[in-house]
Amino acid sequence: MGEAAIKLSVKKEDGKLMPRGRAGTKNFMDVPMELRLKDFESESGEFFISILPPEIARCFKQAIMETGIESEDALKYLEYALSMEENGKPISPIAQWVHDNPYNPRVFKYLYGEAEPLSPMDKGYTLTTGSQAICLRLKSLIKRLPNIIRDECQRFEMKSDEKYVIYNIGASFGLDTIYMMAENLDLRGFVKIVNIDPDEASLVYGRNLAEKLGVVECFQFVPKKIEEVKDLDKAHMLLFIGMFCPVPTKKCVLTLNFIKKFIHEKGIVIFSTVQEKMLLGGPILDFIMWSYGWRMYFKTDKEPARIVAFAGLTHEKDMDWEDEFGYNRMTVARNVKHSVFKKVGDVARLVRILMM
Ligand SMILES: C[S@@+](CC[C@H](N)C(=O)[O-])C[C@H]1O[C@@H](n2cnc3c(N)ncnc32)[C@H](O)[C@@H]1O
Repeated sequence: MGEAAIKLSVKKEDGKLMPRGRAGTKNFMDVPMELRLKDFESESGEFFISILPPEIARCFKQAIMETGIESEDALKYLEYALSMEENGKPISPIAQWVHDNPYNPRVFKYLYGEAEPLSPMDKGYTLTTGSQAICLRLKSLIKRLPNIIRDECQRFEMKSDEKYVIYNIGASFGLDTIYMMAENLDLRGFVKIVNIDPDEASLVYGRNLAEKLGVVECFQFVPKKIEEVKDLDKAHMLLFIGMFCPVPTKKCVLTLNFIKKFIHEKGIVIFSTVQEKMLLGGPILDFIMWSYGWRMYFKTDKEPARIVAFAGLTHEKDMDWEDEFGYNRMTVARNVKHSVFKKVGDVARLVRILMM
């Protein structure tokens, strides 16, 4: 994958080494100074600074370059981001939504270009490289999934009256599956997609879009958390996209181990992770997310494969892919009973090893 890894120990300006952090838990303060500066000098960095009042812009830069997340500077930025304009409108609706609920799916409407940002600050947010990469992730899924589905149907030797079943867990609007079905007429006859998400408003948005695009009959919408889903048959494919971004690696293992019960034997799960390359390319967005209370867990190059192995699945390495920037990794794992980690105790022990 050729991903640039963050050095585990970095020399600071005073000559001391920064602490050697565990893999996958880095933040903007671990990013070398020159890369932080580079982000400020990029078009999106300059735009973001230009829309902040001068004093807030100074605090914002100071927090990212020097004083960190637990500083007065960071607090001043946060207070501004959560404040109202004179006309009573929020300076940044996105800041408010993320601050209230990091999983708020409304934000994604703007990241995916489904709607125009509601304020200059929100526009600045959608222009950061990390935000752009989320949109590239969606595009890569729409492009890549159809061929994976066709190949998998052959592998399963599906009969003409059988359906290839996909659960899109944490689907939100389900734009990936809906646009994919709209653009691939041949899939409509044999693919059934179940979009699962507790956020009913997102599912309704998706249903309306699917209706508009003439593919709604291929979909089922389940307004539940995956833990509450009991009465569905098994799926040939699970999509778990955008779900592991803020999740520590050990919890990813436990979650994957839990959701694998929804996959047929030999079926696959495709999950996405945000990789350290995203942090190196976009420390400004990491600071913004931290200050709103949404801390990302950027994964190292090796972590997605470890998550698969420790969850007792088989890594289909050749099927993995990344978005165009290499910030989001899509990892493909197959439910094959081969694993050396057979017992629940084994998984727990391995999770402990992973934490060390
Ligand atoms: C970051 S969004 C990802 C959305 C979508 N997969 C995408 O790629 O745009 C996370 C979604 O997970 C949903 N979610 C949160 N907890 C969930 C759970 N326990 N089961 C299913 N969905 C959940 C949220 O409502 C939200 O829509």
